[in-house]
Amino acid sequence: LFVGEAPGFHEDKQGEPFVGAAGQLLTRLLNEVVGVERADVYICNILKCRPPGNRDPQDDEIEACTPWLVEQVSLIQPRVIVTLGNFATKFVLNTRQGITRMRGTAYPWHGRTVIPTYHPAAILRGGGERSRQFGELREDFELVRDTLPTIDRRPVRVTPPEPTKQPERVARDEPPTQ
Ligand code: URA
Repeated sequence: LFVGEAPGFHEDKQGEPFVGAAGQLLTRLLNEVVGVERADVYICNILKCRPPGNRDPQDDEIEACTPWLVEQVSLIQPRVIVTLGNFATKFVLNTRQGITRMRGTAYPWHGRTVIPTYHPAAILRGGGERSRQFGELREDFELVRDTLPTIDRRPVRVTPPEPTKQPERVARDEPPTQ
């Protein structure tokens, strides 16, 4: 399972995560380094809608979207979760440490393994393949590749933590149910 931050413009229009340039880089690393097809992994975001003007997600938006992420984790039952960037890493691992400190290591999390790495969009903004961070991003995908054969594929017995509060309304354009 890959967890990003929030849909961008194209993702919001198409209703699919990581369909733009960052998604192409993610797909390429999956194919070239991990040796898996994009169709064999599940990709999602913490926020399910694009924040206006692409600003950082706010606490109430995260709170409203958390039940969906929890449900995604319980349905997919991923053994390995890759958090893409600062935001997803801090949220999932409940840490204040930035991605530069957190990446490069696999962390146990509720019976699963979390591997934080840079957000591909940040790498593209910061010099792409010529940057040092690109090499580190590749190394993190190598860590994913090397972790996969070591995982226990039986379902995890523990459930992820419940969100503290349910949002009042479920989705913007769904009529309320009776
Ligand atoms: N960035 C994200 O965090 N998620 C996407 O789906 C696209 C870009």
